Amino acid sequence: MTQAPATQHIRAHNVCRDYHLGEAVVHAVAGVSLAIPAGQFLALLGSSGSGKSTFLSMLAGLDRPTSGSIIVGAKNLAELSAENLARYRRETVGMVFQSFNLLPRMTLEENVELPLRLSEVDRRDRAARVAQALERVRLGARSKHRPSELSGGEQQRGALARALVNRPSILFADEPTGNLDSVNGEQILLLLREFQTTLGMTIVMVTHERPLAERFADRIVTLSDGKIISDAPTAHAASTVLAETTADSANLAAEGARS
Ligand SMILES: Nc1ncnc2c1ncn2[C@@H]1O[C@H](COP(=O)(O)OP(=O)(O)O)[C@@H](O)[C@H]1O
Ligand SMILES: [Mg+2]
Repeated sequence: MTQAPATQHIRAHNVCRDYHLGEAVVHAVAGVSLAIPAGQFLALLGSSGSGKSTFLSMLAGLDRPTSGSIIVGAKNLAELSAENLARYRRETVGMVFQSFNLLPRMTLEENVELPLRLSEVDRRDRAARVAQALERVRLGARSKHRPSELSGGEQQRGALARALVNRPSILFADEPTGNLDSVNGEQILLLLREFQTTLGMTIVMVTHERPLAERFADRIVTLSDGKIISDAPTAHAASTVLAETTADSANLAAEGARS
């Protein structure tokens, strides 16, 4: 089988992030270079304090490197203005965290609608997109519930719907299963893989659950003291999976062009 050369969706080159605490300097990320092909599901592992969250938040445009570059598509995030970085966060990426961060006074559908309001999507289009995002995470029947009326697994699926509603091409997840039991954690991973295969999304997930990463991700990168100490494909990352992903990306692009 011939495999089209995957486009490099994200390229981090020698990325460093220092934190200054009084006289002390913490090298939280200390020279990470990494290319992530479009449509790949990458898991980032490493012990607590190894720099995973710091690195992820720079990829997601929530923080900037002290030095180094992060190229996504044609943009170098390190050089974007604050306004363009905010636009990147709104339009290109979706993000979920360990804590679900749904606003407690709003219903699930209002929570999921928020990013659409921020990006000024027309009111008439919003309801359909919210409904579609909630269907994708199997929460269509829970749209009027408040977060306190949902289980932990449902809240995280709601957070996933909110992350998807702007149709980003990249999903960043920082320990998305950290507050969930194994059954609910697995449901989240199944959804992430579904987004990868049916929507062609690039997924970068921080986790400390290696068995889950082995089962669901294509590749495992391990950090220690802010540096990459290993980078290897998982056993199931067969070329067929990558080829399918590429085909799905093409379908998605064609769909996008039609709509
Ligand atoms: N805002 C901050 N100010 C100072 N030090 C920080 C800050 N955020 C993280 N660090 C430090 O940077 C290192 C990496 O942290 P982090 O990226 O959160 O690790 P991980 O997600 O792998 O547990 C740790 O030593 C942590 O204490
Ligand atoms: Mg962390």
